[in-house]
Amino acid sequence: MNETTAAREFPAALDKLRSHRSVRQFTNEPVSDECLEAIISTAQRASTSSNLQSYSVIVVRDPERRKQLSPLCGGQAQVTDCPVFLAFCADLNRAKVLCEASGYAFSARFIEYFLVAVTDATIFGQTALAAAEALGLGGCMIGAARNHPEEISQLLQLPPLVFVVFGMTLGHPRTDQKVTLRPRLPLAAIMHHEQYDSSKWQSAHAAYDGAMKATGIYDGRRIDLSRRVEKWQDVTPEGAYGWIEHSARRWIDPAAQRRQLRPFFDKQGFGFE
Ligand SMILES: Cc1cc2nc3c(=O)[nH]c(=O)nc-3n(C[C@H](O)[C@H](O)[C@H](O)COP(=O)(O)O)c2cc1C
Repeated sequence: MNETTAAREFPAALDKLRSHRSVRQFTNEPVSDECLEAIISTAQRASTSSNLQSYSVIVVRDPERRKQLSPLCGGQAQVTDCPVFLAFCADLNRAKVLCEASGYAFSARFIEYFLVAVTDATIFGQTALAAAEALGLGGCMIGAARNHPEEISQLLQLPPLVFVVFGMTLGHPRTDQKVTLRPRLPLAAIMHHEQYDSSKWQSAHAAYDGAMKATGIYDGRRIDLSRRVEKWQDVTPEGAYGWIEHSARRWIDPAAQRRQLRPFFDKQGFGFE
């Protein structure tokens, strides 16, 4: 919610989308196959580049396999604690096999192929999350599934031309916890009319910084870069640490940059011409 739209009323469908929050803690209630198929088949209705549907999803229910996945996803407890983990993959393997069966050589050498598959997988995954939320479930996307691309590909037995873009934990949200929605940037920061306008977004970010600070989200959660960035010192005073400082530290954190991705993509058959 942001200041421009907070006062308005929206139809139920929008209300549902507008009440999204990432859920990281779940009850023990399982997610039925029927429910999962409803979620995934709904996600398939999402737009897809040229109707190519260049994605796959791997459903991981087995607790043992999720236990193996967790350290590959930054050790996040939600990966072992959720009833279902979904790995959303960019998938050009099917395209290759089908092209070759039709007598065409296929090569994913251009950046455009990569973008098509990543965009498709992302839209598919987000639509799945929205569908799950419409059914009363909750979940959280797991970008940390790109921390160890080789190992996760091996664990999920991914063929060439397939990789995990992000994971997703899914389940029934615990109800014994306070529900808060994480504020978003004011529209002025992200919405432009006719042409890109740099004149307003600075002040919009400053306002947002204050709103995020006020949620208390950063209390005790400052990012410490002292062991990762040479000569780095935390000089930000207590009251000044907000979204801007936190995000800046995330952007420059060398440990968060997943630098091994390029060689992995090369090996997996994606080109960047
Ligand atoms: C691609 C992507 C990857 C994410 N990866 C993680 C993750 O690995 N762990 C996590 O706890 N949250 C992850 N998130 C959730 C974001 O932190 C969350 O969406 C954001 O802070 C906004 O909070 P909200 O979803 O509750 O509104 C991810 C979100 C996206 C879109």
